[in-house]
Amino acid sequence: MPLPFDGAISQYHQTDAPAVIREQLRRAGKDDILSPSYPYREEIKRKTYEAEMAALQIELVKMQSWARETGARIAIVFEGRDAAGKGGTIKRFRENLNPRGAKVVALSKPTEVEQTQWYFQRYIDHLPSAGQIAFFDRSWYNRGVVEKVFDFCTDDQREHFFSQVGAFENMLVDDGIHLVKFWLNVGRGEQLRRFLKREGDPLKQWKLSWIDVEGLKRWDSYTSAIQETLNRSHSVTAPWTIIRSDDKKRARLAAIRHVLAGLDYSHKDTQALGAQDTSICGGPEIWDG
Ligand code: ADP
Ligand code: AMP
Ligand code: MLT
Repeated sequence: MPLPFDGAISQYHQTDAPAVIREQLRRAGKDDILSPSYPYREEIKRKTYEAEMAALQIELVKMQSWARETGARIAIVFEGRDAAGKGGTIKRFRENLNPRGAKVVALSKPTEVEQTQWYFQRYIDHLPSAGQIAFFDRSWYNRGVVEKVFDFCTDDQREHFFSQVGAFENMLVDDGIHLVKFWLNVGRGEQLRRFLKREGDPLKQWKLSWIDVEGLKRWDSYTSAIQETLNRSHSVTAPWTIIRSDDKKRARLAAIRHVLAGLDYSHKDTQALGAQDTSICGGPEIWDG
């Protein structure tokens, strides 16, 4: 089977990637963390991960049954660069939940008709009903980031988005929706390592798109669009939670823990929940590019 996009990812790795990134990849062992500023040098031990994940998933099940009983509505937004681990984190959230009340919202690019609508309109259809948890795998924040980087919207449209997003989210929260916004923060070397893996793995190739390939060269453009988006849409009502996700497993634990810690569900076992790892999960101040 030919490599997707004619091997454009390995091509980029060999010829265009910054020397420092190539050096990170060359020196690293399989379980080594690539980003020099990440607080751990190695991935979490599998046994520790599995034990913590098992305890958290029991809490998630309790949380879902509480949501069904009380009619709580929960919307969780997952944002992050390509390959940051959004899909994989959502998968672990849902692993032991009733899929009926735990839906994934992964919209494709707006259709011609949708392009004529109010920008938030198509997302509204997918907001949670009573008892539901909606996992947004990307969201209205496309306008802040990918649409900026690829010129899919005009500057006016983007300004308009920023002028409305605070009010939009305030309305959701004011109506009683529990809203969580995650930004998964992945380093440049780690992103490239994941892309290379996807390129070579027939089961993962579907995750690669033209946007990913082209986006490799636009790292800095993404950085400034992300910085601006975080600055302009972080609020008391709808704050961003940054999760440093160079270690996917630690990131998944932190995300689940954060959601559970913020909800007052029945039979909550704070012991099982454990303490949050604040070195990888916090406010926009821990985002590092
Ligand atoms: P993903 O990483 O979510 O699998 P892509 O990397 O292909 O998907 O695309 C990133 C995001 O950009 C997606 O949410 C997609 O809908 C959006 N997108 C792609 N093309 C366009 C476009 N022409 N206009 C607006 N958004 C787009
Ligand atoms: P593809 O190259 O068909 O796999 O496209 C992947 C994504 O990028 C799809 O969402 C396309 O609509 C989008 N895309 C591809 N080429 C362009 C382009 N020249 N301008 C805008 N969007 C594009
Ligand atoms: C991720 O891994 O972050 C997403 O699920 C897929 C992607 O953006 O490539």
